[in-house]
Amino acid sequence: MTQTKENVGDQLTKIRVGVIGLGFGGESALKSFRQLPDVEIVALAGLEEDRLAYLGKMYEVPHLYREYQDLLARDDLDAVSIGVPNHLHSPIAIAALQRGLHVLCEKPLARSAEEAEAIVQAAVEANRVLQVVFNHRERGDVQTLKRYINEGKLGRIYYARAYWMRRNGIPGAGSWFVSKAKSGGGPLIDLGVHVLDMVLYLLGEPEVVTVSASTYDELISSGRGVDKEATKSGVNHSQDVEDLATAFIRLANGTTLLLETSWATNSSYGDDYGVILYGSEGGAEIKVKNYSTRDTLRIYTDVAGAPSEIAVQNPKSEFHLAVIRQFVEHIRSGNWSLYTGDEGLRRARIIDACYASAQQGREVLFAPSSERE
Ligand SMILES: NC(=O)c1ccc[n+]([C@@H]2O[C@H](COP(=O)([O-])OP(=O)(O)OC[C@H]3O[C@@H](n4cnc5c(N)ncnc54)[C@H](O)[C@@H]3O)[C@@H](O)[C@H]2O)c1
Repeated sequence: MTQTKENVGDQLTKIRVGVIGLGFGGESALKSFRQLPDVEIVALAGLEEDRLAYLGKMYEVPHLYREYQDLLARDDLDAVSIGVPNHLHSPIAIAALQRGLHVLCEKPLARSAEEAEAIVQAAVEANRVLQVVFNHRERGDVQTLKRYINEGKLGRIYYARAYWMRRNGIPGAGSWFVSKAKSGGGPLIDLGVHVLDMVLYLLGEPEVVTVSASTYDELISSGRGVDKEATKSGVNHSQDVEDLATAFIRLANGTTLLLETSWATNSSYGDDYGVILYGSEGGAEIKVKNYSTRDTLRIYTDVAGAPSEIAVQNPKSEFHLAVIRQFVEHIRSGNWSLYTGDEGLRRARIIDACYASAQQGREVLFAPSSERE
């Protein structure tokens, strides 16, 4: 379908989407698109025959394909959602954008900043929406804390910690996740990108100045720490990614950010993530254990000179649904040039800098965005 800003109001009353990928990423998209009015899931693609048939039936998708190329060859789609191994994000996203489709891409946008830049460039050239799925920022606790920060209640936030740590959470022995060529990296690019997104969003997107990171492979190569429940696609891939990464990141506003991520540790963690912020007027802690959405946000401040703790009551979390609702709204807005995936690119650049720092064993300078134009 040929879309221009002028005909968007008429032609995009109903948005026709194709979903690529049958794992968690793909099914989360199916579930969310299904809940939105005037959105039709026309096609679904993925390699696992049984699961393709099962999901097709469950979500009433009329056209099923094994390969993504066959789905993209349709001429009746407005948008696609990409939930496939990371090495396929850039070829699929660029091909879709060049066919005039709006693109929703699972995190991370790509394996590297270079790939992410090419996708963003394709979105700009095609004048189509590119949105990256950062679903954890759509937690109710994050949204509540964001409003609280915007009200100035924490004062100047000068120290931040963002972490995602697991005891035994390597996603599938031999799956694409553990292959650097397919994934781009281990927990840093997989889990770290989520909490990096959460914390940068909460801090109001400050510029990064320097990055000093270390990565470790102490458990993964010996086969310890695998999540035996994880059913991720791909087999027999060599395990050549880190199992733990930590980074000390200086921000242009003087704030320090400490980032910690791991798929496997000899530790008290289960599958825990969060963000901790210390400000001149108050502090905040979001601590999520095993994906809980209850009792996760605490605010620390002084009340009439007495140190006090506020437990915020479970605000509603929407995760993928909120992201996908925004994606559809952005398409309907017609202002496509405003949504070109730049947050995904910014996170990819920081992750690249972390891997470069770890490899070189020293702090690296981060080029400000004004010098990259
Ligand atoms: N936002 C989140 O919370 C979240 C959670 C999990 C995964 N993800 C992201 O989603 C993406 C997929 O992860 P997953 O856990 O669903 O992986 P997965 O291995 O469970 O599923 C990947 C899917 O891609 C399909 N695929 C591979 N090659 C294909 C091809 N040529 N044509 C069509 N389909 C093809 C596979 O058949 C499979 O169905 C990754 O980028 C991952 O980072 C995001």
